Amino acid sequence: MKTVTLDIAKTGIGIPADMKTKAQQANALLHSGEGEGNDFLGWVHLPSSISEADLGAIEAEAAKLRARADAVVCIGIGGSYLGAKAVLEALSDPFKLLHKEQTQPTVLFAGQNISEDYIHELLDALKEHSFAAIVISKSGTTTEPAIAFRLIKAELERRYGKQEAAQRIVAVTDKARGALKTLATQEGYPTFVIPDDVGGRFSVLTPVGLLPLAVAGVDIRALVAGAQEMERATDRSVPFEENPAAVYAAVRNLLYAGGKKIEILGSYEPKLQYINEWWKQLYGESEGKQGKGIFPASVTLTADLHSMGQYIQEGERTLFETIISVEKPAREVRIEADAENLDGLNFLAGKRVSEVNRMAELGVQLAHMDGGVPNIRIAIPEISARVIGGLLYFFEKACGISGYLLGVNPFNQPGVEAYKKNMFALLDKPGYEEASKAIKARL
Ligand code: PA5
Repeated sequence: MKTVTLDIAKTGIGIPADMKTKAQQANALLHSGEGEGNDFLGWVHLPSSISEADLGAIEAEAAKLRARADAVVCIGIGGSYLGAKAVLEALSDPFKLLHKEQTQPTVLFAGQNISEDYIHELLDALKEHSFAAIVISKSGTTTEPAIAFRLIKAELERRYGKQEAAQRIVAVTDKARGALKTLATQEGYPTFVIPDDVGGRFSVLTPVGLLPLAVAGVDIRALVAGAQEMERATDRSVPFEENPAAVYAAVRNLLYAGGKKIEILGSYEPKLQYINEWWKQLYGESEGKQGKGIFPASVTLTADLHSMGQYIQEGERTLFETIISVEKPAREVRIEADAENLDGLNFLAGKRVSEVNRMAELGVQLAHMDGGVPNIRIAIPEISARVIGGLLYFFEKACGISGYLLGVNPFNQPGVEAYKKNMFALLDKPGYEEASKAIKARL
């Protein structure tokens, strides 16, 4: 069973031979390491290079945290947050908090914002639980998670004492550099390394994603197995037409060249909402540079048909849509007949809810096409760890190919520094004295 099947028939695009060649060359560059950003290509063969020992070490550390805590706070931002969040949401029952029996520790997130209310409410909620923390930062110097970690570490030490707190904190960071690495060594925290050659937004299959997911009870072996299958399916030896990542990258670049500047990723399964968020970071940071790049946007359907639907149907014609279409729901619910039929819904009696959802999807696809919005369909057979693993790697591979087709280095993010400089200057960080004066004069 393939994890991803791509259908571009409803884009109205035929892929010319030269674009096929370019996409194949871009994929080959990712494998040969001769393209831009080649010091960050560790993710290309990451799935197949994860060893039994790697998985065992992650599972063992996860088991320790699970034994100690019923809530585990994952502290991180961007690529050190979104992958775990996306997979966890995709594979979790959204109503699990209402079930009396909690079989898995609750994984919570912090450090992805600087909201005082958020951190206060989190610390308050933790008072009622035995908790632990995983602090994740590749650079080890990112401000948002550093602030959250300082507060959570202090709370852990107050509650459990320094020694026990050190057993309840795991750090995931660079092997040598950064404040977090220094702190983890000093305090004796168990530590996992983020490989040098894997950038943040490509790091979901390192301990960055795998450790929190293992804590939450996700089958990380199945996740990795799905990614391994997709690594093979998108290898440079695979012919263009059979490589879904190459085809997706090619078609979105052709659409962009034809004036479609915005890609909306959507799904009719709300559990995939954070996959959209992870994807937006992946594509936005990888491609949005040098005045170029498709703007990645997202919708959750059918909810957003009642908000963004109007714009998509009739607004500016600079959009195209990519739908992650889930072929088989995990559960079955049928619509019942009602003797009075006051709501007029008896024409649906006996149908599964998913049949209605499918017809909504097909109806919307044709309506949007008719409205000038090309549609790419990414079909996945089900929402499972294996399939999500395949989907993540598919998007990563396509992103690398797509960035090279666009003519940018997909593996840097120089633009994210600008806000940090201003923020540090406004906060009077030592070393920013001149910048502080200059920026304050502008306020
Ligand atoms: O993709 C990236 O490199 C970034 O989005 C980072 O993941 C994000 O800025 C967090 O960085 P760090 O893990 O160093 O705290």
